[in-house]
This record gives sequence, C-alpha cells and structure tokens, in this order.
Amino acid sequence: MKSIFQVSRNSKMSRKNQWIAVALAMSMTAISGCKKSANTVNGISQNNNSAAGDVIKLGEVGSMTGSEATFGTSTHQGILLAVKIINAAGGVKGKQFSVTSLDDQGKPEEAATAVTKLINQNNVSAILGEVASSRSLAMAPIAQQNKVLMITPSSTNPKVTEQGDHIFRVCFIDPFQGTVMAKFATETLKLKKVAILRDVKNDYSVGLANYFKETFVKAGGTIVVDQSYSAGDIDFKSQLTAIRAKAPEAIFVPGYYTEVGLIGRQARELGLKVPLMGGDGWDSPKLKEIGGAAMDGSYFSNHYSEEDKSPVVQDFISKYKADYGVVPDGLAAMGYDAVVILADAMKRAPTLNTEDVRKALLATRDFPGVTGKININDKRDAVKSAVVLKVENGVFKYQTTVNP
Ligand code: PHE
Repeated sequence: MKSIFQVSRNSKMSRKNQWIAVALAMSMTAISGCKKSANTVNGISQNNNSAAGDVIKLGEVGSMTGSEATFGTSTHQGILLAVKIINAAGGVKGKQFSVTSLDDQGKPEEAATAVTKLINQNNVSAILGEVASSRSLAMAPIAQQNKVLMITPSSTNPKVTEQGDHIFRVCFIDPFQGTVMAKFATETLKLKKVAILRDVKNDYSVGLANYFKETFVKAGGTIVVDQSYSAGDIDFKSQLTAIRAKAPEAIFVPGYYTEVGLIGRQARELGLKVPLMGGDGWDSPKLKEIGGAAMDGSYFSNHYSEEDKSPVVQDFISKYKADYGVVPDGLAAMGYDAVVILADAMKRAPTLNTEDVRKALLATRDFPGVTGKININDKRDAVKSAVVLKVENGVFKYQTTVNP
C-alpha cells in the first residue's frame, strides 16, 4: 500500500503517471489543506470521536496504480470534486471533510492493509472504496469488525454488503446488472446463442457471468460455451478458438478493461466478428486505447451516461471538466455520489456518531445522484437504474436505461 504522496516520489513511474500522482497529491493538499483535527484520538473503539474538532476525516482506498489504475484515479477525482463542493458550501454540521487516500495497487492484500491503517492510524469516520468487489471483500470484514462505516462507490457483487451492517454501497448489484444485459441480449439484440468468457480470479466477473447466464437461459437462450481466464493473462487465443468453434452470436465478457481490450483484439484477429458484451468493468478511457477498433459494435451496462441531459448530470460534467480537463467516466460519477450521499446522511443524522449516520444512510430515499435516483434498501444496497452503452468509433453511445 502506498499513500499517493509516496507514489509521487516513485522515480520508476512513467512521466504521465508522475503527473497524475502529483496532480492527485496537489488536489488533496488543496482540500485537506492544513486543517488537521485538533482532536487526535488513538484507538479504534473511539472512532466516533474522529469527527471531533472542525474536521470530518474520511479514508479512501483505491487502485491508483496497476492494471486497474483508471478505476482508482477516476473515483478519487470524483471524491475530491464532491469534497471541494461540500466544503465550499460550509461542510457538514459546520465541519470540513478531509480525505486520506491510499493506493492498493489493485491488490486485495494491500486494500486490507490500507483499511487497517486508515482505522488505526488515521482514525477516520468512514471509508470510501473500493471499486473492485474482490478488494471490497478484503476490506469489509475489517471495517465491520471495527464498526467503521464503509461505502463502496461501485462494487457490485452482492457479497460485499453481506459482510455486515456497517457496509454500504451506492451502486446497483450484479443480479440486476446481469439481468439487464441478458434481457438486452434476448429482447433488443434477439440473440439465442451466446458464449461466456469470465475471469475466474475476480469475484465480480464470476458472479456477473452466473447472473447473466441464469436470466439468459430462463429467457430461452443457450450458453454455447463457458470459458475462463485469470486477471493478468495476456493471451486468450485458446479460449477464443474454443468459442469460435461453437459459432456464438455474441460473447459475454464480464471482466475489467485491460483484459477485455486484449480479448477484443484477439477475437477479431481470429476472425470472430460477433459483438462482445460486458458490464461496468469495461468503463475506462483505456478500453479504447487497448482494444481499439476491435471494441466497436460491442455493448456494456454501466452506472451513467455522459449523454444524459439532466441538469444534475450536466452540472457535474462541467464542474469535473473544469477541474480535470476530461469528461468524467462512470467511476468518477460513483465516487462523487458516494461522498454526497454520505454528506446528506450526516446532515440528516442527529449527531455524527457512527450509529446515527448509519441509520441516516439506511433512510436514504429518492436521492438525486449523478448516477440516477438512489434508494438504499435494508441490505444496504442501492436500488437504481442502469444504462446500456454501445462502443462506436471508440465512443460510448447511450442505448437505453433499465429501471429496477
Ligand atoms: N462493479 C465492479 C466490481 O464490483 C467494479 C467497477 C465498477 C468497475 C464501475 C468499473 C466501473 O468489481
């Protein structure tokens, strides 16, 4: 685990990454500034006091480096934007948010170490993260055991919030996401025969593949072949050759962008022209870089579309562009929503004690998030809509919105 300040001193980083790390460190300093809580309380059991003084300390764990680096950096930027806006408007109950962000490099063990540090050493009131379900699953038992609230912006595997009553998410879950794509395959694309290529090292990928399969088969479709790979693989030709032999009409690949981009390329090289389909794990500007034209004509489900004309979305996009110079992806939108939902709950809670904030989070109803209207149910999951996007000339084009 590296703090992003340490990252900025890593001389082995590419120039671009160095720039990103420095920018992250600078924007963090700008937010947390020199405002330190006057009341440094050691010991986990006293975390309710971490909102003492004039600061509410938040911790963030994300993949700022590694093969899922855009997940961490985009989420981080969304979090910082929300914190900046909330602080400028007077904060919450007269207190300013400060954020300590730790890089887990995309590794579950590092995510577990990071959450322990944020609780024990930084004495945070709440944890934001992780994006990837496998890493949230490594963190959640630690947050739960210490009775510190954890809000994952975008981990969609159902098991994450099952880890305990202090674990929340502001995104939909994979049984819904799998159904969205299975219905899109049968009802919109009229497909009957689909292949699956899943990442067996990734809880999210395995779960989403299963949920997709269940609904697709129930709707009368056939999974003609179910192949697997492991995160970090770079050669997918043998799986794709086996898939080609079954002549599917589409390949469902619920993985993360780095492998999905390579899979897209290699599928085309082998003469497989059918669309790929996937889930939110595709959402990265890097998908286009890695997959290139091979990804055109493919579909995935996601949390938000930049084409959404609603004022909440367009206002967020223009503020994000002003700070970062790029259009936010879904991860940035989810990071932003995680903070504003936490702030909203803290405002409604009678006090900033963990139990009061926990109850207020549970009472979140019809919250107008950037990623849709958000309701938190009694399982601490968000109930909300999903969008389906199509990759066209490297751009993610909005197709449809599916309500829960
Ligand atoms: N939903 C994915 C998971 O649970 C993470 C993810 C969310 C990736 C949003 C990209 C965009 O692992």
